[in-house]
Amino acid sequence: MHFKSLVGILILCFLTFGCTESYCPMIEVDVIPEVDSVLGYNDEFIIENKTTISFSETFKVSANFLQSFILNGSGIQLKSIEKNGSILFIQNDSIPSEGYKLETFKDKIKIIASSDQGAFYGVQTLRQLMPASLENGSFDKDKIRIEAVSIKDEPKFPYRGMHLDVGRHMYSVDFIRKYIDAMAMLKMNIFHWHLTEDQGWRIEIKKYPKLQEIAAYRDETLVRHYSDQPHQFDGKKYGGYYSQEEIKDIVTYAEERFVTIIPEIEMPGHSQAAIAAYPELGCKGEQVEVAKKWGVFEEIYCTKDETFNFLEDLLDEVLELFPGKYIHIGGDEAPKTRWKSCSDCQARIKSEGLKDEHELQNYFIMRIENYLNSKGRQIIGWDEILEGGLAPNATVMSWRGTSGAVEAAKSGHNVVMTPTSHCYFDYYQSDNEDEPLAIGGYLPLEKVYNFNPIPEELSKEESKYVLGAQGNVWTEYMPTEDKVEYMTFPRMLAMSEVLWSKPEHKDYVDFVSKVENFHKRLDALDINYANHLYEIEGEMISEDRKSFYQLKTLTEGKDIRYTLDGSEPNLNSEAYTSKIPITKSTTITAAVFNNKERLGKVFSQSINYHKGVGAKITIDKVPHKAYSGSGAEGLINGISGSDSRYGDKEWLGFSGEDIEITIDLGEVQAINFIETRFHNGNGQWIYAPRKFSIEVDSTLINYDSDNEDKLIANQIKGVGQYSRFVKIKIPNYGTIPEGKQGAGNKAWTFIDEIIIN
Ligand code: ACM
Ligand code: ZN
Repeated sequence: MHFKSLVGILILCFLTFGCTESYCPMIEVDVIPEVDSVLGYNDEFIIENKTTISFSETFKVSANFLQSFILNGSGIQLKSIEKNGSILFIQNDSIPSEGYKLETFKDKIKIIASSDQGAFYGVQTLRQLMPASLENGSFDKDKIRIEAVSIKDEPKFPYRGMHLDVGRHMYSVDFIRKYIDAMAMLKMNIFHWHLTEDQGWRIEIKKYPKLQEIAAYRDETLVRHYSDQPHQFDGKKYGGYYSQEEIKDIVTYAEERFVTIIPEIEMPGHSQAAIAAYPELGCKGEQVEVAKKWGVFEEIYCTKDETFNFLEDLLDEVLELFPGKYIHIGGDEAPKTRWKSCSDCQARIKSEGLKDEHELQNYFIMRIENYLNSKGRQIIGWDEILEGGLAPNATVMSWRGTSGAVEAAKSGHNVVMTPTSHCYFDYYQSDNEDEPLAIGGYLPLEKVYNFNPIPEELSKEESKYVLGAQGNVWTEYMPTEDKVEYMTFPRMLAMSEVLWSKPEHKDYVDFVSKVENFHKRLDALDINYANHLYEIEGEMISEDRKSFYQLKTLTEGKDIRYTLDGSEPNLNSEAYTSKIPITKSTTITAAVFNNKERLGKVFSQSINYHKGVGAKITIDKVPHKAYSGSGAEGLINGISGSDSRYGDKEWLGFSGEDIEITIDLGEVQAINFIETRFHNGNGQWIYAPRKFSIEVDSTLINYDSDNEDKLIANQIKGVGQYSRFVKIKIPNYGTIPEGKQGAGNKAWTFIDEIIIN
C-alpha cells in the first residue's frame, strides 16, 4: 500500500470509527487494479460450508460467478437462501453503474451496487482477497479467511480494452475464453477481436463459403523476423476459422463476465485474404494468394458496388453474432496504388465529386458507416479514418501517436487511445538480448503503467471524448498461446490500472510489489507471464564531468551484488549501496539476490570510457517523446544501445527532421577516431541518413544508402585533429520511397553512441 493512501486510510479510520490503531491495522489490500478507497478492520470473515448467500435476480450473474468460484476453488458450496444470507448482494442506485462497495465484517459480506456489472467488479475484488490457490482448486482447507475491509470503488474510464489479432496466428476457443477471463478478473470490459487479415480470414460467413475454404488458409508462413533477409518460409499450410456456433458461445461467455466484444472486419485494406477467395473484390480482378508474410499489401477492396454488396451481406451476419453497439471496420494501412489505376475507382471519384483517393477512402468509410448506423450500430476505425474527412458518428482508435485522437476529440468525436508507444504489447518488454523474438520497439511494464490516456493537448471539456484505452496484441511473432500470454502479462495488469484506477492512487513501486504477489495467482491460472521484476537497470550519470554508474531494481527488500572484473556475482560479491565512480573502461556485472539465492538474470554492461563521456552535448531538435532514450547525454555516456533494436534507452529517434549535434569536450583534445551509429530498420520506417557531415576540421563523410544492415556504424579513423568541439550534421533520409513499408511518410532517424577517441 502506497504511503499516502495509508495515511489517508488511518485518518479516515479515526474520523469514521473513532478507533485506535489496534482496530485499524495497516492492512495491505493487494488488489489489481488499485481500488478507490479502502478501510481495514482488525477482524475477518470466514467462508465455510454453512455460509449462506442471498441475492435478487438483478445480481444473478455476479452471485453465480462468486458461487462457482468458491465451489470450484475450495469445494465449499454456498447455500443460497431467500434473504439475510451472510453474503448479501444489495442494490443501491446511487452507486455509479460500474462501481461497487464491498464490506466484509466478522459475520457479513455485503456487495453493494446499482447493477450486476458493478457487483461483478465487487466480486472480482473479493476474489483477490481470497488465496490464489482457489484459482485452480488446489486450496486444501475447509475455511477461507477474508480480512475485514470496507472498499469503495469505481472505474476512471468506461472503455477498458484488450485487443487480439487472430489473423496472423489463431488460437483455440478455450484460449479466447481464458483471455476474456483474465480481462474480467482485471475489470476490463471490451474485447477487440481482430478477425480478418491479409494472412487469414477467421470468421465464418455462411453466404460466402470461399472465405472458409480459401481465405482462412495460407500456404506457408514467414519464419524469423521480417527484417531478416532473404525471407524464408516454413512450407506448412496454416489456418482455420471460428464457426458461428463457436462465436455465439464466446459472445455469451463474455457477456457473463461483462465483457463486450467488438469484432473487427478490416476494410478497405488488410483484405488480401478475402480478395484471394473472391478476386472480383479487388481492382484488378486477378487471383492473389492469402499473404504468407507480414506487412502492408496493395491488394485492397475496389470501390465498385459489388464490393459494398459483399460487405453489407457479410456485415449482416456479423451483426447477428455480435450484439454490441460498436463494429470496428479497420481503415488502417490502405495503400491507394490499385485505386489510382482502376477505372471503376476513378469513375467513382468523378461521379461522387471527390478530390482524390484519400477522399475516396473517406467515401468508403462513410458508406459503410451509413449502412451500420441504419442498423443501429456505430463504427470504430483506426485513425486513418480521419483521411479525407471523418465519418460523422465514428469513434477513432488512435494508434499512430495521439494526434489523430486530438483532432477527433477537438471535433467532438469519441476516441480510444492505443498509441504504439504505450499500448503495443507486441513490442519488446525488456532489452535483454535473449528476449523471445518480437516485432521491435520497447515497451516495458513501467511505461505502460505510466500511460496517461488523456493527451495533454486536450482541454478538460475535450478530454471527455476519450473513452479509454486498450492494449493491442498483434500476433505476427506469437505463433503459440504461451507466447501471447508472455507478451500480454504483466503488461495487461498495468493497463488495467491505467484504465480503472484514479491517478492519485497509482504508484509504480507499490504496483510492482502487487505484481510480485500476483504471480501466485497467474501461476494458479496457468498463465505464462513474463517476469522482469528481478532485473537490473543501470544508468550512467555525469556530474561536473565525473561519471558514475547507478544500479536499480524494481522490487524492494532485495540486494544488488556486483563485480567489476566481468565475473558472475554471487552472495559474497560486493553489495551495491551507492553509485559506482567510473574512470576507465570497465564491465559491470550484477544481479538481484535475497538472503539465500540469486533471483533474476545476470546483468552485464560494458562501458567504453571514451573522450566524449561526460562532455556537454546539445542537439538542435528534441527527440520524439516516445523515443527520447536517456536524453542527449545518452549519446556520449560510454554505452552503445542494442545492435539489432532501436527502442532501448540508448537510442534517440527523430521523425523526419534534420538534426545538428554539438559536443563540447571542455578543452582542446586530440581526436583521432569518431564512430557514429544509426539504426536502419526500414520495415519500421527507420532509415540511416544518406550522408552526414562531421565538423572537427570539416571532414565530410558520405556513404551508401543501399546498405540493408540494421546497424550502420561509421568509423572515421585517422581524423588527426585538435579540437574542443565536434559538430555533426545529419540530414533526414527524406520521404520513404514507393514499394517500401510506410511509403510516402517521413523517415525516422535513430542514432545512439557517438564514440570519440
Ligand atoms: C495498426 O497497427 N495497423 C492499427
Ligand atoms: Zn477499383
